[in-house]
Amino acid sequence: MRDDEKRGGGNTDERDPIQRLAQTHRRLEERLAELVRAAETLVLRPDDEEAQEIIEEVIGFFSRGGARHVEDEEKTLFPRIRHLDELAAVLEQLEAEHIEHQAVERALSAESDPKRRVDLAKRLDALYRAHITREEEELFPRVKRLVDPGALEEMGREMMERRPDRGKGKR
Ligand SMILES: [Fe+2]
Ligand SMILES: [Fe+2]
Repeated sequence: MRDDEKRGGGNTDERDPIQRLAQTHRRLEERLAELVRAAETLVLRPDDEEAQEIIEEVIGFFSRGGARHVEDEEKTLFPRIRHLDELAAVLEQLEAEHIEHQAVERALSAESDPKRRVDLAKRLDALYRAHITREEEELFPRVKRLVDPGALEEMGREMMERRPDRGKGKR
């Protein structure tokens, strides 16, 4: 069993909501790279059990850790910045991208043809990379500048509450 929500290193502050989102981005990137590799392996060796397991694990990760990350953004972060005009355009774009990710994730979990699965995995990887760059370059620095520390703390608490099992071992 993988630990989707591994704690950050010793000197990272897990109550910092922006840092938490960025940490999850690193995990998403790792899982997407594993997904593409495993999908490619299955084109060459359709019976490779390890690659089949990795695909299932990564799809499972998207439906749990990945979905919670989207909730952190859509239910905790975005509502607190929606009133800021200078962020309206990027928010709209990010929300549209979330919908697109979900569609590709659904298609991927339903796809059994190895070659089409590689195409979907690569497409998802490319979409996420562009999305993550947009969030980390266009959104997060502005959030840190525009949102007051009290609201950031509140966001950190909300994100912790979304993970009631944290600190109680792996699931
Ligand atoms: Fe996002
Ligand atoms: Fe994100």
